Amino acid sequence: MKNNELILILDFGGQYNQLIARRVRECNVYSEVVPFNISIEEIKEKNPKGIIFTGGPASVYGNDSPRCADGIFELGIPVLGICYGMQLMTYILGGNVAKANKREYGTTDVSIDNTSLLFKGFENDNRFLMSHTDYVETVPDGFKNIASTLSCPNAAMENVDKKLYGIQFHPEVNNSINGTQVIRNFLFEICNCKGDWQIASFVDESIKSLKEKIGDKKALCALSGGVDSSVAAVLLHKAIGKNLTCIFVDHGLLRKNEGDEVEEVFRNQFDINLIRVNAKNRFLEKLAGVTDPEKKRKIIGEEFIRVFEEEAKKIGTVDFLVQGTIYPDVIESGLGKSSVIKSHHNVGGLPDYIDFKEIVEPLRDLFKDEVRKTGLELGIPENLVYRQPFPGPGLAIRVIGDITDEKLDILKEADSIFREEIANAGLHRNINQYFAVLTNLKSVGVMGDERTYDYTIALRAVETTDFMTGFWSKIPYEVLEKVSSRIVNEVNHVNRVVYDITSKPPATIEWE
Ligand code: XMP
Repeated sequence: MKNNELILILDFGGQYNQLIARRVRECNVYSEVVPFNISIEEIKEKNPKGIIFTGGPASVYGNDSPRCADGIFELGIPVLGICYGMQLMTYILGGNVAKANKREYGTTDVSIDNTSLLFKGFENDNRFLMSHTDYVETVPDGFKNIASTLSCPNAAMENVDKKLYGIQFHPEVNNSINGTQVIRNFLFEICNCKGDWQIASFVDESIKSLKEKIGDKKALCALSGGVDSSVAAVLLHKAIGKNLTCIFVDHGLLRKNEGDEVEEVFRNQFDINLIRVNAKNRFLEKLAGVTDPEKKRKIIGEEFIRVFEEEAKKIGTVDFLVQGTIYPDVIESGLGKSSVIKSHHNVGGLPDYIDFKEIVEPLRDLFKDEVRKTGLELGIPENLVYRQPFPGPGLAIRVIGDITDEKLDILKEADSIFREEIANAGLHRNINQYFAVLTNLKSVGVMGDERTYDYTIALRAVETTDFMTGFWSKIPYEVLEKVSSRIVNEVNHVNRVVYDITSKPPATIEWE
């Protein structure tokens, strides 16, 4: 992304850092999140149009509170400090940061001075999210107060000559009305950005640089049919054509017809060098009788690597291994890990086993929505680009208990009906993940005059932005009724359908 104007986001540990980067990119300006202690030399080398300091949980008076490199405010590059970022700017430049008696949290009325470029075009009163204990009591010399709330005298400040700005509130979150406009003003009024970062130019640049990098060497890609690996594969294919080989391991745990759909797109539409390995029997043999979810994940992960490895061996040494790593993976891997509730959330872990020289990660600078836009730009069909997330272990963790071929068939049919009716009702873009689960509960029913003793299908649908938390979706009763009646009528061995009305937490999205 060498030729684009750049905003550097210094990460002081706040929970909304990714959001800040996204908001900047939504304004068509490329942004990168970097560690708070990035050196002055590195900053100069990156030559950003502006710098944003994120918030963070520390206090400037803490013993090992995070500090930026000395001299950052003298570079002549505009800086916007958010929350802790504003406090740090104040502290370093000689103002006073004080501790409030109580934390100010929530969307708050903020009076602003709309003669400041930061608030250009704003009405006088606004509502922004405040979330802080420390606050700026006195602004540093050369700074002017440009906003306040009832409990925070300096909710924003500026030093126009040095192009330094601080805001105590969080403009990046949705509850800050017009928050993005503050970021936009910083980018366009203060940093003089042009806003020419676009997916189309990303695609062109990437293809060009991949061509240069790989030349006529060989690359290998594990294709899962998920959005990231699909987009990475097509991008590589556009750059190096038949020198890319994709291996698609079909473990037989995909949804109804999905394996064939993947093959259709990659082989027929794009004419990609595709090897499809139908390995269902291998996986089912390994999974026979296994009921523990973590054990299922482990078996599938290991078997996946084994199958991939066997196929890759047939090809011999390749120069490059393609991975669909995306920007949130890159940012998150730099931060502390939270406790493992379920393992194997990212199916990575291939490189150790494959004979290759270098990894290539063409999407490592993109957020998920940008990956989707890239996919559309490359001509990948919408239904693939907007696919809901699907776990690596597939239906194995949606058949509760032990897995058999028969159970998989029941689940595939029920799940396909659910998805079809959600699409018919026009809800498929609003619900972020929805699927059927085959519980291992059998219950008594009556069909015609006959007693039945058959399986219970559970329907799961959640609305979420980050998949870390989420609410169960309030699907209209009529839609649920139609799904339920179709499933019991059309799918053999199911006589009961239930709807999961638990949010996450305390439940997780998947049942296993
Ligand atoms: P949970 O069930 O933990 O799921 O609330 C959160 C998101 O992660 C997906 N998920 C997985 N993805 N391998 C994956 O690649 C897994 O083992 C796995 N388990 C859960 C889940 O579908 C949801 O989107």
